[in-house]
Amino acid sequence: MNPSIPRPKLLVFAGSTRIDSFNRKLAGVAATLARASGSEVTHIELVDFDIPMYNADLEARGTPPDVMKLKQMMHDHPAWIVCSPEYNGSYTALLKNTIDWVSSPVKGDAQWSDGFRSFTGKVVGVLSASPGALGGLRSQSHLVPLLFNSQCWVAPKTFALNNAGAAFDAQGELVNDSHRQNVQAVIDQVLFAAQRLGA
Ligand SMILES: Cc1cc2nc3c(=O)[nH]c(=O)nc-3n(C[C@H](O)[C@H](O)[C@H](O)COP(=O)(O)O)c2cc1C
Repeated sequence: MNPSIPRPKLLVFAGSTRIDSFNRKLAGVAATLARASGSEVTHIELVDFDIPMYNADLEARGTPPDVMKLKQMMHDHPAWIVCSPEYNGSYTALLKNTIDWVSSPVKGDAQWSDGFRSFTGKVVGVLSASPGALGGLRSQSHLVPLLFNSQCWVAPKTFALNNAGAAFDAQGELVNDSHRQNVQAVIDQVLFAAQRLGA
C-alpha cells in the first residue's frame, strides 16, 4: 500500500444468510483483519436487505428501496470481498439474485441508467468456504466470470476454505493461522489494486 494515497474503503459480504454460515464467518474474519490493518470496512449481511426474487414485472412497478440502497453502497466502495458458498458446483441463488437486481438499470433514473454503475472498476477479492474438500472453489469458478461480465476487476489471489466445519472456533474465529494468512493475502492484494486503479 502507498501510505500517501488514502486506503480504499472495503465492502465485505457473504452469499449466505444461514445463521451458522461458514461464509458469513469468513466474511467476519475478513472484515476484522482488514480493520486491524487500518482499512475502513463496511461489513453487510444480505439478510438485512429486503430484496425479492428478481422479476421484471415487479421491477416495472419500481426498484425496491433496498436494491437502491445496495446499488449506492456498492458504488461507494472501490474494493470488495465476497464470500461465496457453493451450491451444486456454483454460487448461490442469493448471490445471483442480488447481483441481478443491482445490475439492472433503473428506468427513468438517469443516474442509474447504467446497470453496471455499481460494478465498473471495482476490485473484488473472492473467498469461499465449504465443508467439502474443495472449499467451494467451483463456486468461485462461476462467480469470477459473472464479476468480469459486470466490469469488475477480480484479484488473482483467492482462497477456498475446505473442511470448514472444523475451521472456526466457537467465536467464529479461524483456528488455523495459515488460513488467516490466506484471507489477509487476498485483502492485501484487493486493497493494493484498488488503490493503484483509483477505483
Ligand atoms: C443445495 C445445496 C447444494 C450444495 N452443493 C454443494 C457443492 O456443490 N459443493 C460443496 O462443497 N458444498 C455443497 N453444499 C454444501 C454447502 O457447501 C454447505 O451447506 C455450506 O455450509 C453452505 O455455505 P454456508 O455455510 O456459508 O451457508 C450444498 C448445499 C446445498 C444446500
